[in-house]
Amino acid sequence: MSYNLLKGKRGIIFGALDEKSIAWKVAQQAHQEGAQFTLTNTALALRMGTINQLAEECNAKIIAADVTVMEDLENLFKESQEILGGKLDFILHSVGMSPNVRKKRPYTDLNYEFYQKTLDISAMSLHKVLQTAMKQDALNEWASVVALTYIAAQRTFPDYSDMAEAKAMLESIVRSFGYHYGSAKKVRVNSISQSPTATTAGSGVGGFDSFIDYAERMSPLGNASAEECASYTIALFSDLTKKVTMQNLFHDGGFSSTGVSTLVMEKFGI
Ligand SMILES: NC(=O)c1ccc[n+]([C@@H]2O[C@H](COP(=O)([O-])OP(=O)(O)OC[C@H]3O[C@@H](n4cnc5c(N)ncnc54)[C@H](O)[C@@H]3O)[C@@H](O)[C@H]2O)c1
Repeated sequence: MSYNLLKGKRGIIFGALDEKSIAWKVAQQAHQEGAQFTLTNTALALRMGTINQLAEECNAKIIAADVTVMEDLENLFKESQEILGGKLDFILHSVGMSPNVRKKRPYTDLNYEFYQKTLDISAMSLHKVLQTAMKQDALNEWASVVALTYIAAQRTFPDYSDMAEAKAMLESIVRSFGYHYGSAKKVRVNSISQSPTATTAGSGVGGFDSFIDYAERMSPLGNASAEECASYTIALFSDLTKKVTMQNLFHDGGFSSTGVSTLVMEKFGI
């Protein structure tokens, strides 16, 4: 169902790799709601993934950019404004990667070069995106920026490894930049803390299948799907949430507020 919530709005969507990606679902729903946007990912991801299919469906142009490289971001913002015909109203930061997780390094034996990459790709990149947008004055007043995060920023999940620190840093950048961009230009910056979701990034975390089952049993409403995450993101991009900023918003079926659930107790035969 479409409500035309993003009619006339322009944006950039980072992180659509394949049809499981949360960013993919956001792009589909943003298109249905009347938005125009560019899609971006690394040159490698553009070759490996299936983003062309999405671009065709959404009538969107694809611009390659590594989110850690300032020149790529400068070019992305410049080109996006040219293609879309004006300043932007929304940005989705749906990017995360840990070489330590990918190479299965235990948390107590991390490679520190990898660690820096994790932080750069998964957290500092949000600062780079916002700083580039601000310097180019690329966002309209009341524009909305959404980044995706996970509850491992607040509580320990052993296999989430150095991504936990990356998410804590990401959420801090949401608050800090949200303050500065809000005061200067009325731009909103928020993060959505999403349930575990079966995507390429999600499934890379050790024990993911058991973990997603545990989260499902712990959440009174069940895990939130990628499509539901996209709907929440669209609400945050829309004018219906104009005064929401600098927030970390849990979108997890109640997981974050649950101590233990009957379904989990039953699993232990209690
Ligand atoms: N899947 C989950 O369980 C879950 C839960 C909570 C939060 N998240 C977050 O949601 C976001 C999207 O992940 P997803 O689950 O859709 O998985 P995904 O693998 O589909 O998306 C991750 C994206 O990051 C991109 N990326 C990696 N390095 C990059 C770089 N240097 N420059 C630009 N892009 C780069 C990848 O190409 C990919 O498109 C991530 O921030 C992730 O941490 C995921």
